[in-house]
Amino acid sequence: MTQFGRNDESIRMEGKKPLSGRIQIQGSKNAALPILAACMLIPGKCVLRGCPNITDIECMCNLLTSTGAEVDTKNLDTAHKIVIDTRTVRERRLPEKYVSAMRSSVVLMGAMLGRLGEVCVNYPGGCVIGERPINLHLYGLEQLGAQIWTEGNHIHAYADELKGAVIDFPFPSVGATQNAILAAVTAQGTTIIKNASREPEVIELCKFLNMAGAAIDYAGTFFKSGRIVIHGVELSRLHGVDYTVISDRIVAGTYLFAALAAGGTVTLENIPIGQLGRICDIITEMGVGIVVDEAHSEMTINACDRDRIKNLPYIETEVYPAFPTDLQSPLLAAACVAKGELRLRERIFSSRFRIVEELKRMGAEITVEGDTAIVTGGRELEGRTVIARELRGGAALVIAGLSAAGITTVADSGYIRRGYQDIVGDLAALGARIGCVE
Ligand code: UD1
Repeated sequence: MTQFGRNDESIRMEGKKPLSGRIQIQGSKNAALPILAACMLIPGKCVLRGCPNITDIECMCNLLTSTGAEVDTKNLDTAHKIVIDTRTVRERRLPEKYVSAMRSSVVLMGAMLGRLGEVCVNYPGGCVIGERPINLHLYGLEQLGAQIWTEGNHIHAYADELKGAVIDFPFPSVGATQNAILAAVTAQGTTIIKNASREPEVIELCKFLNMAGAAIDYAGTFFKSGRIVIHGVELSRLHGVDYTVISDRIVAGTYLFAALAAGGTVTLENIPIGQLGRICDIITEMGVGIVVDEAHSEMTINACDRDRIKNLPYIETEVYPAFPTDLQSPLLAAACVAKGELRLRERIFSSRFRIVEELKRMGAEITVEGDTAIVTGGRELEGRTVIARELRGGAALVIAGLSAAGITTVADSGYIRRGYQDIVGDLAALGARIGCVE
């Protein structure tokens, strides 16, 4: 896989220092990426606020720029604002360098088909977490009337006119649902998506598009049956909007598991409380107190009483609102220090136990049987040099390092910057002895 951005960085930390203090949760990567892709569909100027300053967002902005869009990121670092004007788009071929670096580049297909009637991309990249086919993406676009063919490593999609259709997904893929929504917004007639993904980031995309003039109905039976109805509108009815991206439930969950593993009391601000569901249940069932302040979108986790922290016997990842696959690795790292045995089953991606070998080198007792990792917790982890091979696994190794005795160095930490704006700064603000090493 091509790695976008620098990766020759390491994070070094001294573990066994309880965390304490408060930090703000960044904007959501998985919400911001498809919304940026949606800007491609809107012939106007959009302002996105609350965007995280991470390499995946940089990559998506470069993809938009490569099509001729004007993308202003000068306030991304400080004000988390991006201004996108796609009135000037003309290019239908996306550059391989960026598409290969990030899987979510594939959602540009639906937006570009809707806007330009044509798109050419190579097979997309992303984190190395197992088989990630795009058959469901292509199925959705084909149902809407796109002709799709491949030439070597490239996929071409073309449509004289997209037409509303019934799209019945055999699995509620997040990206394929987003792609189908983007292509259906300006298709002629009505599209019904059955078994759509119910992840909060899909709803965010619908909200954004509706504000921009789309007619998407995701109320009614959506949460029960996953049914979304899209009434196609003329492209000229879409207009620029000023939108604030929700905060990142996965980053929030990562820091909750960091606090659980390292100990201490931490308050997280700007939390998407309603979206954490099963994550908070699991943490409290593990014996750690969480106090929620809904009025201020804050949450305080108190993991001072180390003796009470125990593993649950069984947890599995599943589609929303169940426990998310993106937090499977952070949970795995935290489970190493909790008492008792956890059987953790990964039901979404096939190769998401890549960090097991690294955790074992730190003294963790874990065996993998097919799609299930069995962790015998209560082990003292020892600081080591370990390698981040992907985004969430990399963040999980930082969690392990915070709970380990001595010095841990997480090499290739550039992967972590794909999704975490400033993991080192955040944890340092909570009193962790942590820093970047060039
Ligand atoms: C999104 C998230 C990712 C998260 C995942 C599951 C973004 C940018 N990424 O990824 O962080 O881990 O949802 O919550 O939002 N599949 C197919 N064919 C397809 C598409 C998917 O078989 O055409 C399979 C995948 O291989 C995987 C499963 O479906 O096993 C889930 O994938 P999907 O929901 O599409 O995840 P992404 O949209 O890639």
